[in-house]
Amino acid sequence: MQFPPWTSIDDAARLLHDGEVVAIPTETVYGLAGNAYLPSALAQIFAIKERPTFDPLIVHICEISQLADIAENIPDVAYALAKAYWPGPMTMILPKKECIPDLCTSGLPSVAVRFPSHPVAQEIIWKAGVPLAAPSANLFKHVSPTTAEHVAAQLADRGLAGIVDGGPCNVGVESTIVSLVGEPTVLRPGAITPEMIAKVIGDVKVKESTSKPGQAMAAPGQCDTHYRPQVPLFYGEIPEGFELPKNCVRIAFGNRPGVIPATLNLSESGNMLEATAKLYAYMHDLDDPKYDLILVDPIPNVGVGMALNDRLKRASIKIIDSNR
Ligand code: TXA
Ligand code: MG
Repeated sequence: MQFPPWTSIDDAARLLHDGEVVAIPTETVYGLAGNAYLPSALAQIFAIKERPTFDPLIVHICEISQLADIAENIPDVAYALAKAYWPGPMTMILPKKECIPDLCTSGLPSVAVRFPSHPVAQEIIWKAGVPLAAPSANLFKHVSPTTAEHVAAQLADRGLAGIVDGGPCNVGVESTIVSLVGEPTVLRPGAITPEMIAKVIGDVKVKESTSKPGQAMAAPGQCDTHYRPQVPLFYGEIPEGFELPKNCVRIAFGNRPGVIPATLNLSESGNMLEATAKLYAYMHDLDDPKYDLILVDPIPNVGVGMALNDRLKRASIKIIDSNR
């Protein structure tokens, strides 16, 4: 097989149906997909990513009507949210149906479901004829891929059957996760903000970020050190008097002056959606051993900015001088 194993939509659909693992584009990040009904495919996903099996997977569908194949006791608020924001970057947690293997949900009685808006993702799911379980197509705890090249760089030689190139992801961070088991709660911020969800279903809680140094993870997948590049990244204001290492680079946001000139700018005009679409690509671009430190400017913690703050806090070293 040629490496990277670039694959057509039709081949990907056939391979996925038959139980192979294929990386596919979505509007948020690339996913490492497998047939959600087949424990053997799910096991391969965990193995390729080196992801612990206590971290459950999201199941991807291509029609709202498929929700009832996967989840049960679906509340009206789920259909209201699906109507408002699907297809799109929102995942709902609902009580799972028997047909979804425990491996997919890490033994939880609930399942995460998402209907992506990327036309290539939709076509692959449709042609595969089965829902696809897909975590982000990166090694566990590494930065999520927003291009097919990012996927190839991390995973091409790890036994996946193919990678479908659908171009750069236009949202750029993982979907918003909203749990509808019990009180509606946003578990992971994303492009669909809590305000947007509240507009449809009324009040929604937002789970506190667990991103505190030295703390165990409070929920599956909420690891403090998710999304880390190999080069130390520091997010926030540089402490007064801190001496920067020689090869320091800076990801700027807006046009505020920084301690060093901007190497890359997420959005000169301070546009949050533009910044979201660029963040992971910039983290990949600057994750080069020739650099000693990546600095990232503070981003306002409002709207989609909450998703950026969540990911950047997890990506950041916690103490700037002891980690150099
Ligand atoms: O945008 C996305 O959501 C991307 C694309 C590929 O769709 N996928 C993605 O998957 O980000 P992943 O596996 O990297 O993150 C899924 C998160 C994990 O943190 C996991 O803990 C959580 O979803 N999750 C999955 N099932 C859950 C459940 N039943 N209850 C609570 N959290 C769940
Ligand atoms: Mg992930």
